[in-house]
Amino acid sequence: MLASAKEMADASKDLAALRAAVESFDGCSLRRTATHTVFADGNPEAPLMLIGEAPGADEDRIGLPFVGRSGQLLDRMLVAIGVRRTENAYITNVLFWRPPGNRKPTPEETAICLPFVWRHIALKRPKIVVLCGGTATATLLNRSDGITRLRGRWFDLSVPDLGPIPALATYHPSFLLRAPAHKSESWRDLLSIQSRLNSLK
Ligand code: URA
Repeated sequence: MLASAKEMADASKDLAALRAAVESFDGCSLRRTATHTVFADGNPEAPLMLIGEAPGADEDRIGLPFVGRSGQLLDRMLVAIGVRRTENAYITNVLFWRPPGNRKPTPEETAICLPFVWRHIALKRPKIVVLCGGTATATLLNRSDGITRLRGRWFDLSVPDLGPIPALATYHPSFLLRAPAHKSESWRDLLSIQSRLNSLK
């Protein structure tokens, strides 16, 4: 019998083991249509962990999260507050495989991957989590209110085996590409992240 995502996640004792477990997991049908498993990018020692929705076409082709247009915007936004993904950020998604045609992931698909995502956060041990967009926010905070109501607010993310971690909900960069008028709200969120990061020093 196939081991469940929860069993495989719990058995993973470090990030390398978790990555291998996700790569070998056969329980999510998205894997069959995807080219690559997209696990994470950035510095595993960074205090900041950003969590987006799912790989798109560029991410699926390259095997890294947030490398397409929205990722490039995310990088520029982070640089504006002194954060570089290779140095002081760690980036992942709530889905490890691209939904065909970039459709929105179904609740079943996010639920299947969730034990890996919780374990990912627990093993990574970030000081601060940023939830990018409605899917990551709804999935990890288990709230049905939309991102417009939740963005800009800090929540205690109850991470199994780790405890409460401060988490900020913010707009997804791909939404900002479509609706640049909302960039001023995201700028406020970035300043809030910067101030939390500074308070860790
Ligand atoms: N959008 C996401 O949510 N994640 C990616 O990795 C790329 C685009």
